[in-house]
Amino acid sequence: IEAGADYGQQDEGHGQNITIDLSSPNIAKPFSVGHLRSTVIGDALSNIFRKMGYNTIKINHLGDWGKQFGLLMVAYKKWGSKEAVEANPIDELLKLYVRINAEIENDPELDEEGRKWFKKLEDGDPEATELWQWFRDESLVEFKRLYDALGVSFDSYNGEAFYNDKMDEVVDILTEKGLLQESQGAQVVNLEKYGIEHPALIKKSDGATLYITRDLAAALYRKRTYDFAKAIYVVGNEQSAHFKQLKAVLKEMGYDWSDDMTHVAFGLVTKNGKKLSTRKGNVILLEPTIAEAVNRAQAQIEAKNPNLPNKEAVAHAVGVGAIKFYDLKTDRMNGYDFDLDAMVSFEGETGPYVQYAHARIQSILRKADFTPSADATYSLNDVESWEIIKLLQDFSRVVKRAAENYDPSLIAKYAINLAQAFNKYYAHTRILDESPERESRLALSYSTAVVLKEALRLLGVDAPEKM
Ligand code: ARG
Repeated sequence: IEAGADYGQQDEGHGQNITIDLSSPNIAKPFSVGHLRSTVIGDALSNIFRKMGYNTIKINHLGDWGKQFGLLMVAYKKWGSKEAVEANPIDELLKLYVRINAEIENDPELDEEGRKWFKKLEDGDPEATELWQWFRDESLVEFKRLYDALGVSFDSYNGEAFYNDKMDEVVDILTEKGLLQESQGAQVVNLEKYGIEHPALIKKSDGATLYITRDLAAALYRKRTYDFAKAIYVVGNEQSAHFKQLKAVLKEMGYDWSDDMTHVAFGLVTKNGKKLSTRKGNVILLEPTIAEAVNRAQAQIEAKNPNLPNKEAVAHAVGVGAIKFYDLKTDRMNGYDFDLDAMVSFEGETGPYVQYAHARIQSILRKADFTPSADATYSLNDVESWEIIKLLQDFSRVVKRAAENYDPSLIAKYAINLAQAFNKYYAHTRILDESPERESRLALSYSTAVVLKEALRLLGVDAPEKM
């Protein structure tokens, strides 16, 4: 009661920075459910580490560089229009990208042209640069719309392109330390002594740099700029080889801080039990999916509580919260099936279930016109309340464990347990009845609401006062 929303706040990370690399979609490619997972998990980890006293820096490492931009420029000049891109940037760029890749099959010349345009871009050609900037800006407007809907923000949008002028240094250091070897014209770092079979490819035979070269430059930049105590990368399982290489190369370069870097991996999302595939049409389009979740939440509110003020805002909190919560309650290394019905349900282990428990308590407290007091003595004598008290007592430890394991699911499961414990209590006890315990019951309810709301906040999920 005294600490309020600060309950569970810890000081372990005092004065220390953590960089969190999250979301990081690629321009001109779809924002996948993998990017959604990274966004939601990364944002929750940021909240959790802040609760542990760290300062966090959320970095959206946009995929905004690479040969695909050359191809895109060729496709745009051949088939695109300014109006179409401006109307629907991500879709239109994706269409152009898909089309040129298909046409390359019959016309390999196009590939060569794409390579030339990318080279122009790398050499700072004004027309290429202008197009690149425009593709990036337009895509970012659309990504930001999605981030707004999700309620997620970033401290930096420095993507791959940002490191263009920072890679020479990496190559110089590697050369100086004698770590580069030539392999079929390319420059590689051998990592066998780390048990890594494939050498890290730093520079291609045509001098082009790679994804990992940019990540090496990014790691150096982040260490210098933020002097991080930990650097976290929230990226799907399928990139674990990449991050092993990244850490090992840095270690070879003599940077012991590479031990402070963690790849926070996560499993694949399926739909109807099947792998997602753009080609096979098994896709999840995020914006329409979010809108649908909000609609369903709205329909349930309409049925349960048609006179609720602010219905739209509550439906948004419930719909978006449902998607996030379902993702976050899954042990992160496991995947899950994207099942909107299950996500938005008010029954079972869902976000709406926890939000509803919180709103129910708020309604009880309003009815009782209860004001908690940190000086009062409260006393309770039943098993059901004891269960709640034990859980409340556990909150700090759960936050700490979630941070240690980089796993928000511990918080989500905790929130479910607490909501269930309260609902059991509520079923057994007439909280509002006259009784010597009445004030204590209300104080317990109040404390439960504070902690439920805070647990949801750590997950990036809002807790409406009324539902
Ligand atoms: N853009 C990449 C992708 O979509 C993810 C980038 C992750 N972050 C990083 N620093 N490599 O696959």
